[in-house]
Amino acid sequence: MAGISSTILAGLGCLVALGLSLQVSKWRRNYRIALSTGFPVFYSPIHISSVWWMMLYPVLMPILKLLPQSWTSPWLQIAQVWKIWKLGYEPFQEAGADTFILATPSGNMLWSSDNAIVRDLFTQHPYVDAPVEFLKFWNVWGPTIASVQGNEWKAHRRAVTAGFGPAMNRTVWEETQHQTETLAAHWIENDNAVIPVIRYWTSRLALHIICSGFFGLRIEWDNRTAAPLPPGHQIALDAALPKFIERLSVFFMVPQGLLGRLPWKKFRDTHLSFTETTKYLEEFRAQVLNNIEAVTAKTNKTILESIVLSGVTSKDPLPKESVLGDIFFTLLAGHETTGGTLGFTYLLMAIYPECQKRMQAELDDQLGRRPVNQWTLEKDYPVLRQGYVGAIQKEILYVFNPASFIMRKALAPVTLVDSHGGSHHIPENTLTLINNAGAARNPNNWDRPKVPAERSDTLSDSPALNVNPDRWLEEVDGDDNSSSKNRDLATWTAFGAGGRACPGKEFANIQLTSAMATLFKFYSLELVVEEKTRDECSGDEKLAWEKTRDKAIKMMYDDMEANITIGVYKDIPIRIVKRTWS
Ligand code: HEM
Repeated sequence: MAGISSTILAGLGCLVALGLSLQVSKWRRNYRIALSTGFPVFYSPIHISSVWWMMLYPVLMPILKLLPQSWTSPWLQIAQVWKIWKLGYEPFQEAGADTFILATPSGNMLWSSDNAIVRDLFTQHPYVDAPVEFLKFWNVWGPTIASVQGNEWKAHRRAVTAGFGPAMNRTVWEETQHQTETLAAHWIENDNAVIPVIRYWTSRLALHIICSGFFGLRIEWDNRTAAPLPPGHQIALDAALPKFIERLSVFFMVPQGLLGRLPWKKFRDTHLSFTETTKYLEEFRAQVLNNIEAVTAKTNKTILESIVLSGVTSKDPLPKESVLGDIFFTLLAGHETTGGTLGFTYLLMAIYPECQKRMQAELDDQLGRRPVNQWTLEKDYPVLRQGYVGAIQKEILYVFNPASFIMRKALAPVTLVDSHGGSHHIPENTLTLINNAGAARNPNNWDRPKVPAERSDTLSDSPALNVNPDRWLEEVDGDDNSSSKNRDLATWTAFGAGGRACPGKEFANIQLTSAMATLFKFYSLELVVEEKTRDECSGDEKLAWEKTRDKAIKMMYDDMEANITIGVYKDIPIRIVKRTWS
């Protein structure tokens, strides 16, 4: 008996040793391949797709942090993908290079914060494309635009983009005005004009606007005017969808069959938000299918109508699961990003009142005393976008980019040219990661405003200290005196570039401009100074305000959370105040 056990153990030991030696030889081979690119290469035991790492990191991190830095640099920092925005340029500083490769047993990963490489990776589509094998988690119902390549992606892309155009732009411009005006009134009437967590509201604002563009549906802030719950539903769409998005990680981790049966509220809520969202999407789809002739004849279709029609009338029809998937993905991509950006904008305008005043002066010049319904997309929008209003948006999208990193994969051998003009041949199947957070804080791309070191340290070196909209005006003017670093910004885009660039860019820019104009033309936003802070400052109003501002700046780093995009969900109260002249 003992003889058999020791034979089994010896056999298992041999298998483990064989498995390990295979892994090590793959690891070495990947390292050699990576060296041929000419970029610095580091061994890393962790691949971004490692399921074991995502499950065990809370236990492993405290142990790994005890190891000498020379063993863990730079892979350990960047393995914490949920912290990419917070880390910014740090992993590249640690690696001593703007682009480096991590060689792992499961494949190589090229990380870059170099503007020129980032641009190359975007524009070499379709040779460099989304790594669909790592994006399957988006397939809640079926394949979506974000999780397919090649001809399949083209069919999804045609379906999603058919609804964007002048009619949609007008809807976005006008609905944003309505939603912003009624939200401001809601804050004043119901919340004593104080907004504790602005991000909560701006996410909902963006959801209301996208629901109008998608479904032709108007959602109101005021319960008295809100539409009654549709028959057969337990919760409204504007409650189900945000809840489902908030709980996506729970949804991905727990098998669907179990979700509704587990006794805990968190799981039951996730299940309810998923089933309700599914029901709403199916009903919207059915409404279009029931009116197919009338919808086909419409010249100005909603985004939903375009996606549903492509599932029946086009030559590459999308299956029902993909129709639901594309509707959901586009709703998600469209409202989390824009809502988050608007939240940062409103907060930063309260933190930097001088920027707010300058923007309001520009709004007064352009819009004068015309009523809101006379502001036009044709005349006012382009002027505001090219002026200070647009510069603020670009700056906030740069510093607080909602897409901290974007995954790509070389589907064929490609050549990338770095900022110094060096060529690098990248082998097929290399996973390439565009680190937007690192690129935006790369000192080689970015001039930082001069903040005394002590102040910067005290405020966690928060990126909210480095807000400088003017750099974008230098670009727009084509000013030859602008620094070469600022000229590099001309190639930067928060929306990606090339074939897979964001199809919602115009939608987002119009929404941000309309929301900023409608709010700041009639109101100002101020930080709320607490009584406690006033007492601490012995009634010195200026000092108390500065303390409140610094606390907010610090929170915009310390309390930044990354879910699908980044955001601060803790209280930084701001007050809405009517401008006196209007
Ligand atoms: C501030 C707002 C937004 C930002 C910063 C943003 C950014 C991005 C980025 C970086 C990508 C990936 C591009 C790439 O892989 O090359 C993307 C893709 C996408 N975005 Fe946006 N986006 C925003 C708003 C919107 C809006 C309003 C919509 C729709 C209404 C939208 C729909 C999409 C879709 C469908 C894709 C996938 C495109 C594809 O894979 O072909 N986005 N977005």
